[in-house]
Amino acid sequence: MHTSILGLILLAGVYTVYFIVGRIQRYFRRKAFAAEHGCRPPTSVPKEINDVLGLNSVRKNMAAAKNKKFLESGKERFDKYGHTYWINVLGRKMIMTREKENVKAILHDQFGDFELNRLHTLGPLFGIGIFTTDGPAWKHSRAMIKPNFDRKQVANLDMFERHIQELFHCIPRDGSTVDLQELFFRLTIDSATEFLFGESVNSLSSDDTTGLSEEVQFTKAFNQALELTVMNLRLGPLSRFWYNPKEAECKKVCWDFLDKYVDKALKYRQSVDLEKATSKKGSYVFLHELAKSTSDSKRLRDELFNVLLAGRDTTASLLSNLFFHLAKQPAIWAKIVEEAQTTLRGDLPTYEQLKEMKYLQYCLSESLRLNPVVPGNARTATRDTWIPRGGGEDGLSPLFVPKGTAVNYSPFSMHRRKDYFGEDADEFVPERWESLRQNWQYLPFNGGPRICVGQQYALTEAGYVVTRFAQEFATWKMESRDPEEWIEGLTLTCCSGNGTKVGFVPKA
Ligand code: HEM
Repeated sequence: MHTSILGLILLAGVYTVYFIVGRIQRYFRRKAFAAEHGCRPPTSVPKEINDVLGLNSVRKNMAAAKNKKFLESGKERFDKYGHTYWINVLGRKMIMTREKENVKAILHDQFGDFELNRLHTLGPLFGIGIFTTDGPAWKHSRAMIKPNFDRKQVANLDMFERHIQELFHCIPRDGSTVDLQELFFRLTIDSATEFLFGESVNSLSSDDTTGLSEEVQFTKAFNQALELTVMNLRLGPLSRFWYNPKEAECKKVCWDFLDKYVDKALKYRQSVDLEKATSKKGSYVFLHELAKSTSDSKRLRDELFNVLLAGRDTTASLLSNLFFHLAKQPAIWAKIVEEAQTTLRGDLPTYEQLKEMKYLQYCLSESLRLNPVVPGNARTATRDTWIPRGGGEDGLSPLFVPKGTAVNYSPFSMHRRKDYFGEDADEFVPERWESLRQNWQYLPFNGGPRICVGQQYALTEAGYVVTRFAQEFATWKMESRDPEEWIEGLTLTCCSGNGTKVGFVPKA
């Protein structure tokens, strides 16, 4: 007994010495690494948001989110504390940045030094797919998915035309107010399900008044899943102690719905010659193409869920933000209408014509600048590393980033920097794109190896919708029915917080 206690004390002593020596060695190793890369200590850390437990920042963030000012208050902090600063969140140190050099380093130059680290928060619901994984698993997902977004698939505009016709039927022609945002969400879920599953949920033409149809139940469960995901992300490390009984229920509804399509795709896989197969009626179906690369039904469901997560709300949010501004600024809308008339002369637009319509492209770019649909993001350091800005009193020297540190970057705040975009950076001015070059300070679709795979699909759909509106309502006035300024509607993505309320009135 006596000897075993002595043994334990000895063991604890050896471990303590081992631990202390390890920490001392790490300290000197990190110091040498930081010196080698010219890193300097960060500017003084703001006390008001950096209390010991890191509760102040959480409290402030929660209050700002409640008032739909989360993004705005984040921007104000950058204005106050500098473009890169440290913050303590529940005892965990994080770096906040809106420097283009840092974003380029994280996403491109030093891509291998950072990871998403999302599997523990998003994995339980969305499984293992392109949006939740890192390293070889992510590479495999990306290689499987990327070919399905070829230009040839994206340039097929017939599908968009069918769905926009359904949307036009929902717009009142008696001048009464309509929330376009709600219609855009239905339009993009209709087109996304057709593109991904081969069958649209047709929510715009649905006459389901009971709300009990499988499609409606799925949409509700998906929305709930998104809310739970956002909560998980906000809680960060604490999310593992938070249990919401709704999670299992909405997971079941979503999975059952998706499994139905996965089964169909697997049957399709068995029935066709994989080498020669083209999808039914010659049309393109994402899931059929995916089923050619794997027969693992869980994998197929997870990938599908991941792409749906990435692609469902994004294009609708872009459209809702853009139309919010267009309805407030008739002169800009008039220029779009004129461009559509002179370019198309009444015909439906082709993919090439959409790209040629410069002013339309400026408006899309400007909307994604002022109201980026993915306004914030983060990466975690997988090893001790550094970023080019944030060190020293002026913040212009490199900054050491210890392994495990999260670096949060904010496209919302970066896109509103006056030194990047001019004194009018807080305003919607499409003309600025006549002379602006897209660079790392502009990041609506991310950059580097994980750049959005749906970018061309999204821009084509959004461009098509704006152009078809410009043609359909060329002889109408589009009036904003919202006296307020734009505010955020923030989940994982960001749309207009008060919707997009407009009325169409015939021109006199
Ligand atoms: C305006 C519309 C869109 C915007 C602004 C947008 C933006 C983004 C951003 C910022 C990311 C990077 C996320 C991250 O790494 O943390 C991303 C990734 C992704 N997006 Fe999009 N997206 C849009 C539409 C779409 C659509 C329509 C689809 C598919 C139908 C799609 C599919 C994806 C996928 C699969 C990824 C993951 C790529 C990877 O990690 O390798 N996106 N998107």
